[in-house]
Amino acid sequence: MPAPSSQPFCASSIIGTGSYMPEKVLTNEDLSKIVDTSDEWITSRTGIKERRIAAPEQATSDLASEAARRAMASAGVAPEEIQLIIVATVTADMFFPSTACFVQKKIGAVNAVCFDISAACSGFLYALQVARHFINTGNRTTALVIGAEKLSSLINWKDRNTCVLFGDGAGAVVIRRADESVEAPGRVLSTVMGTDGTLADVLKVPGGGSACPITPENVESHPNTIHMEGRETFKHAVTRMLEASQQALEIAGLTAADVSLVIPHQANARIISAIAERLNLPLDRVFMNLDKYGNTSAATIPVALDEANKAGRLQKGDVVLLVAFGGGFTWASSVVRW
Ligand code: ACO
Repeated sequence: MPAPSSQPFCASSIIGTGSYMPEKVLTNEDLSKIVDTSDEWITSRTGIKERRIAAPEQATSDLASEAARRAMASAGVAPEEIQLIIVATVTADMFFPSTACFVQKKIGAVNAVCFDISAACSGFLYALQVARHFINTGNRTTALVIGAEKLSSLINWKDRNTCVLFGDGAGAVVIRRADESVEAPGRVLSTVMGTDGTLADVLKVPGGGSACPITPENVESHPNTIHMEGRETFKHAVTRMLEASQQALEIAGLTAADVSLVIPHQANARIISAIAERLNLPLDRVFMNLDKYGNTSAATIPVALDEANKAGRLQKGDVVLLVAFGGGFTWASSVVRW
């Protein structure tokens, strides 16, 4: 275990990105054969055309580990250099140990401290902020922050309200301490986070935990699957993501006009368009890949960040705005100088 350093208040930089999406594609057309829906309904209401489904033998930690390996390769960092692994997920491999422990074993990051964070779709940005605190206080120098989900394991395939929305996947970043005085690329400039637990019941998986264990009597009512009040979620998502974006930009001393690319949580193209419109940003400065993957909860932002990076859409000096909203309700936004 690495000795905590006494160096205080350092900056954190994203030095590598990676993602892994399972091979199996489930299209809207495929879903229309399972539930009463259509490609036209799903596309016009959400923007989603298809999503990826993990193989039965793939656990969330398998998706996370592959994304982590790719992020480490992109950063040029060896597994032994990783001192902290945080996995943001609502589909942990099991109640315990944490998914991060399985990732550690699978990638050989023998020097890392490992734990999970549960903040639904905001999980990756929550995890990024926690890792940033470890680094900024000098406690760790190099961390893996991963968003990974096997949401197909929480879906009621008979519920058309939810089964069309979600998919599986994983994304990861390596973040590292950067000298405050040096203009290191990938610098995280600001992060804001918020929670409103009074609305916890609007979007949840009610069963399978201590409040409602699965029993032979309740299993038929699918309590261990996603339950969501779609319209209520939609309304709060737009308001909170807009507020969080504006706050994160203000803390960074920037405005929306400075933003080169927004990477929002990929839940619904209409939510994303509404936020872009309110920030007065054209859609060509907003990254969207939800047509290919649907909503992969904590994974959407690191996957999109990696795709934007690999596609050359992040140039040195660009201001990148990350913003998320999810069950809890939780929300968060980060500004990164690429
Ligand atoms: N196919 C066809 N019809 C459908 C489907 C479907 N897949 N799903 C619902 N409908 C029907 C409904 O039954 C309803 O019919 P009715 O009027 O006869 O009752 C009608 O379509 C309209 O339903 P609404 O729920 O009002 O549709 P809405 O326009 O609100 O779209 C949606 C639903 C896409 C879920 C939207 O509300 C949404 O995106 N909400 C936000 C989701 C989100 O942001 N989640 C983020 C966090 S996720 C997390 O944290 C894990």
